[in-house]
Amino acid sequence: MTSSALPRDAGPDGARVVATLRTLADMTSDDAGAQRVAWTDTWQRARAFLRQQLQELSLAVRTDAAGNQWARLPGGGSGVVIIGSHLDSVPDGGWLDGAYGVMCAVEVLRSLAARGPLPCTLALVEWADEEGARFGHSLFGSSAVAGTLNVAEVRELADASGLLLGDVVAEHGVHLDRLDEARQEIYGARAYLEAHIEQGPVLEREGLPIGAVSGTVGVERHRVTFRGQTAHSGSTPMDIRRDAFLAAAATALAVRESAVRHQGVGTVGAARLRPGIVTAVAGETAILVDQRHPDAGALQAMLGEVQRASEQAAKAEGCAVRWEPIFRARPQPFTDELVGIVREVCTELTGQQRVLPSWALHDATPMAGAVPTAMLFTSSTKGISHAREEDTPEEHLRLGVEAFYRTVCRVIAWSSGSAVSGQ
Ligand code: GLV
Ligand code: MN
Ligand code: MN
Repeated sequence: MTSSALPRDAGPDGARVVATLRTLADMTSDDAGAQRVAWTDTWQRARAFLRQQLQELSLAVRTDAAGNQWARLPGGGSGVVIIGSHLDSVPDGGWLDGAYGVMCAVEVLRSLAARGPLPCTLALVEWADEEGARFGHSLFGSSAVAGTLNVAEVRELADASGLLLGDVVAEHGVHLDRLDEARQEIYGARAYLEAHIEQGPVLEREGLPIGAVSGTVGVERHRVTFRGQTAHSGSTPMDIRRDAFLAAAATALAVRESAVRHQGVGTVGAARLRPGIVTAVAGETAILVDQRHPDAGALQAMLGEVQRASEQAAKAEGCAVRWEPIFRARPQPFTDELVGIVREVCTELTGQQRVLPSWALHDATPMAGAVPTAMLFTSSTKGISHAREEDTPEEHLRLGVEAFYRTVCRVIAWSSGSAVSGQ
């Protein structure tokens, strides 16, 4: 790399990122944790806070057809490097999941806006509904942009109160018939980069503050509904019951057994019993099953095993069972060259390098299918995420900001063939 003709900026301010994240957490959390669930007023408050940050940098903010917010720092040439993450959280979530990556991206934009024009455009994106907490479908905005969102499938999705996804997003200005228009947002994109907390225990166990991500694992997510017979809890003898909950419970155990057998993970994160009262045998029980594995074949084996187990459990309890797909993602490797750049930056800052897979999904997952992509992780305290206890030592968060900044500078240089100094 030749030396840059561009003036250096002062570099990013990690302390400012942490302070901004704390302000955002105060604005959008209650005693149970962060409440920035997508398509709610609290989420919109968080997005307005982001717009305010960007407007202070004199950057215009626009919303695309899928509800994602964009700000662009125009540069020379036709190429674009995209940086970002999401502001939505799960209910009772943590302060850093997604928000860390968005605020890292703001800080990098702020630093780079202070120097002369870049050799390419740098775009910040804040993705809509990464979590899928309400409708079960993760990565809404990013998969619309990447062109992998199945509109027919999401049209059918309803939340726990029966509201349809299409109606809810329309209240926020997003129309499923026009989602395709969001694909134009990545014309000219040369790279996508995202910073995120690990959300697992690997970096902390190894005493590392930051690491590079090799890609994301595959996911299969289904609603499994058992139907038996609602009956009186007192007067129905045990041998004539058709208890839908017991069939669901046996299936939940099979989800765990199969995940352990294949060294994957499997979760039943939600169950709904009908009528759901203590004086009735549940005539219907629906569970949400999430299974993950880095290997596509092993993931299909896990799915098949649990499907068979659910049929056996249903038969044993005199119930019927129905499987409905909610969401799936293939194992998605990131781009070797870009992962190499993240690794190089980590080595430079910590003297060590670690490349690890992500067992959590990210907006980088669909983006990696469309654009060269990489991610940087910071450690997560006790590996806890999707919970109010989610945390990361402040010095790791600050180091992550510097590492992300250096990565972005190098990737801009990589994508435009010119040098951009960032250490
Ligand atoms: C989202 O955080 C997911 O990993 O499902
Ligand atoms: Mn996230
Ligand atoms: Mn999350």
